[in-house]
Amino acid sequence: MLTKRSSIDRVRPEAEILKEGAEWLKAGELVAFPTETVYGLGANALDAFACAKIFEAKGRPQDNPLIVHVCNRSMANRLVKDWTSAADLCVQHFWPGPLTLILPKTALVPDIVTAGLENVAIRMPSHPVALGLIKETGFPIAAPSANLSGKPSPTRGSHVWRDMKGKIPLILDAGACEVGVESTVLDVSGGVPTILRPGGITKEQLEEVLGEVRVDAPSENQIPRAPGMKYRHYAPQGELILVSGLRERVVQRMGQEIQKGHARLKRVGVLCTFESASFLHNWTPDLLFVLGSKDRPQEVASNLFEGLRLCDDRRMELILVEGIEEGGLGSAVMNRLEKAAGKRSQHI
Ligand code: TXA
Ligand code: MG
Repeated sequence: MLTKRSSIDRVRPEAEILKEGAEWLKAGELVAFPTETVYGLGANALDAFACAKIFEAKGRPQDNPLIVHVCNRSMANRLVKDWTSAADLCVQHFWPGPLTLILPKTALVPDIVTAGLENVAIRMPSHPVALGLIKETGFPIAAPSANLSGKPSPTRGSHVWRDMKGKIPLILDAGACEVGVESTVLDVSGGVPTILRPGGITKEQLEEVLGEVRVDAPSENQIPRAPGMKYRHYAPQGELILVSGLRERVVQRMGQEIQKGHARLKRVGVLCTFESASFLHNWTPDLLFVLGSKDRPQEVASNLFEGLRLCDDRRMELILVEGIEEGGLGSAVMNRLEKAAGKRSQHI
């Protein structure tokens, strides 16, 4: 399939480009589009046949449900059977924005979208291109992140191009995504609201509005309530080691690992904070990518997937990543890095 990549204005998206996207979606095809978090791979959420194409293009396991994107509350109302007061509060405070709500679905939502679950994941994005596209089609858009399954999520049009070229007819490219990590997935279907995936809206922000908020932290042999959380994710090709703890020690350990890697003739990439960069530079890694300041987790979040993907582009065989402090967006960043590292994370 021939893939067209159209640039589109992120603030005032051109009407004719949105229209072209909507035409493809109405025809049951896939269109990749920017959101404020990451790029999505969209299909008509009410068309099971179109949604099946998403799983095929990504190589996504069938048991991993999709997030449905809406442009207003009335569109959401058609998809949700029962709203809870917690859900209403979330809509008031955080929509449009990087918060996905888990709620009981109506019969309108095809089973393939929820992977057979009774609940649907639903969110109203704030990116003008995403909102404009949903409005133009007139139906909700099901969209996972537009990466190949298992790879880091795409935060630039070029990332989507790399993964989806030849598989879908259209990519809407509005440049870099602002938030850089995916939405927070919050179960508000009943009981204490529970974070199934940390993301763009922090636990602290949710607590301010909702009071008590839990985090789903399944132990080794439990199944997470967001099916997607059980898969290894965000993984670049090289071996990734996450090092976190006291900065002096982290820098020293990373230096040792660079040396060890070079002794084994490996190409070593380093992703680190601005504060550690000049020290790590002295160890001459093959790639040094600055994620941002340790005091600005937002900066680190927005550069994270670009850094991981750059390691693939430059064929790094060993990737050392400096962890940042948990809390706020730091928790979303560390969640992605721990998944990317698999069992190879060191806290020192
Ligand atoms: O920011 C985002 O959320 C991006 C943009 C495109 O909106 N989308 C995204 O989708 O990250 P995806 O498919 O990569 O991740 C969706 C997560 C998965 O962990 C999935 O298992 C979970 O949400 N999820 C979806 N539907 C669910 C449901 N009904 N119940 C529980 N978890 C669900
Ligand atoms: Mg994803």
